[in-house]
Amino acid sequence: MSNQAGETKKNQSKWSSYTTEIYASRRPPQPLGTVVPEDIEKRAKEKLKDYPENFMYGYGNAGINLTSRANRRAYEKFCITPRMLVDATIRDLSVNLFGKTYSAPLLMTPMGCQCLFHPEGEEAPARAAGKLGIPLILICSVDVVGLGWRTHDLDTAFHPFGHGVGTQIASSDPVFMARYGLKPITKTNIGWPYRPEVQEKKIQEGDEEAKTLALIGEEFVKECTGRSYTWEDFRALKKRWGGLLILKGLQHVADVEKAIDYGIDGVVVSTQGGRQVDGAVPALYALERIAKSPKVRAAQQSGKLTLLCDSGIRTGPDIFKALALGAQAILLGRPWLYGMVLAGEAGVEQVIRHTLADLDNTMANAGYPNIADFQGKGEEVLTKLDF
Ligand SMILES: Cc1cc2nc3c(=O)[nH]c(=O)nc-3n(C[C@H](O)[C@H](O)[C@H](O)COP(=O)(O)O)c2cc1C
Repeated sequence: MSNQAGETKKNQSKWSSYTTEIYASRRPPQPLGTVVPEDIEKRAKEKLKDYPENFMYGYGNAGINLTSRANRRAYEKFCITPRMLVDATIRDLSVNLFGKTYSAPLLMTPMGCQCLFHPEGEEAPARAAGKLGIPLILICSVDVVGLGWRTHDLDTAFHPFGHGVGTQIASSDPVFMARYGLKPITKTNIGWPYRPEVQEKKIQEGDEEAKTLALIGEEFVKECTGRSYTWEDFRALKKRWGGLLILKGLQHVADVEKAIDYGIDGVVVSTQGGRQVDGAVPALYALERIAKSPKVRAAQQSGKLTLLCDSGIRTGPDIFKALALGAQAILLGRPWLYGMVLAGEAGVEQVIRHTLADLDNTMANAGYPNIADFQGKGEEVLTKLDF
């Protein structure tokens, strides 16, 4: 067996072993049981029933959920067209992204405020992803001029940033903190679960840490939302940063073409799952249009631009469709968040393994053994429903 074939075999067993282990053990997958998206969402809601605002911060979307629902409907509109009598007994899910080979076309979505959902928020998913070789990425979200119109958070005036929760990027930054004559904070006593009324009480009682975190939180929000960034800012950032620069939240083909002109290395076509502009185009439709641009295609082929996408991806077949429409990898979001709510690190790990085993199974039964057999080939491998 050649080395290359050996690698393929290793990759195949990495993701398909989830299924074989279940059947061999004769018991349901642990710790969650099988992962049905609506089901783990319901169970996560039940688990956080004493902190409904925390749950809603993760589950909720902007406005009246038009884009959130459209994101899912877009996945229903596209159907996979299976091929028969193809040898798909060995699948290879590996992809090359930014010049490096990864064992699957899946990355973790960036999510703020994870400590609202589990005492080990941030750390549990990082450990699970690290164990499986799934990348966590740092991105620049360009779709947040202000928080989306989130009626559930407005209704309860739920604003964790105002108490310095989810603002560690500022409070751990020596330069940011020095502006206020403060030293970076890397550990806090906010504890689990975060409760706004507890932090408020501490502030009223003069608790120094609570007061400092509230100050930093408010200043951070002003920094993020109080000014408009431009393409020229990203040219300057790219020069100073020196590393890869990925923009998240692009939806218009002209913006992605502009990103190429400005030397941006990667873009995530995203609606933040419908959390920003309600009524915005579903991310999958935006991706379809973007990937048809000859300029975008050429940049993808030459390795100048890596095209990623998220928003509404729940299953292996969803990943197949996004890749077929031009994404080179996807970002998985709320499914792993709910896995974390229910079972911490092990829950996140299971959701990732489940989703990739589902993709592996889809590739086997649809007769596409390699990602290259369908990536960017939507016209050939998908059918768009017109009803
Ligand atoms: C609780 C929570 C926090 C998030 N925080 C951020 C963030 O700070 N920056 C960002 O670009 N996207 C953020 N997102 C959006 C995700 O990165 C991703 O785009 C979204 O979850 C995709 O939608 P889906 O989870 O419905 O598939 C957040 C999402 C959730 C659920």
